[in-house]
Amino acid sequence: MTTISPLIAGNWKMNGLTHSLEELAELARLLTAGAAPRAVVAICPPATLLAIVAAQGASSGILAGGQDCHMAASGAHTGDISAGMIADTGAQFVIVGHSERRADHNETDDVVRAKAEAAIGAGLKPIICVGETEAQRDAGEAESVVAAQLAGSIPDAAEQHEVVIAYEPVWAIGTGRTPTLEDIAAMHASIRSRLEGRFGADHAATIRILYGGSMKPQNARDILAIENVNGGLVGGASLLAKDFYTIISAV
Ligand code: 13P
Repeated sequence: MTTISPLIAGNWKMNGLTHSLEELAELARLLTAGAAPRAVVAICPPATLLAIVAAQGASSGILAGGQDCHMAASGAHTGDISAGMIADTGAQFVIVGHSERRADHNETDDVVRAKAEAAIGAGLKPIICVGETEAQRDAGEAESVVAAQLAGSIPDAAEQHEVVIAYEPVWAIGTGRTPTLEDIAAMHASIRSRLEGRFGADHAATIRILYGGSMKPQNARDILAIENVNGGLVGGASLLAKDFYTIISAV
């Protein structure tokens, strides 16, 4: 699967004020000062900063992404943001189905799939998140839980349009804990094989599968070297330009 250019995406979650743009500027400096990065780089800031990140990142090749979108194109949904609005900022990606949204907002696979469809319809590339809880892993259900999430969350439109999958074990997010390299390899191989079963080997080979969950400068090189790991979705370590750049450089 080495033909896919890796994607390193930073998910700022509910962090970031205008002064955080200094980190973006520092990241841009680091990226343009050294050798060209071997990864596609994206930042998914809070919606309040999305347009400015999209505009300011452009000159250094930093792409922008939203963290969520509504499934409808427009309408009476106070506080929500449509995929078209995200695309309108100049962003190229949108995260859908992050475990924090599945948990905090009761988002089901059906909801996540509808959001991914809306994203594709607006010309965005959805980053569709899946991942098991610690209890599910302990019960030996990790691969079956993720397989069910993939089946339910990926729209059929993924056959014709680019989507990104992010495997984020819930228990590894923000905890400093990660699965073993063997466990990551096994899960990513399992995801690839589910994608092959649904979309055929040729198309499945073009779909990026990111790892997310406590990816740090210290472990990025080992994780990113695993077969079928086509990049990372980075939370905490994406907030500091220096750390995020180290992860990008680990590709
Ligand atoms: P952390 O890197 O902070 O564990 O977060 C991962 C994540 O949830 C990215 O979407």
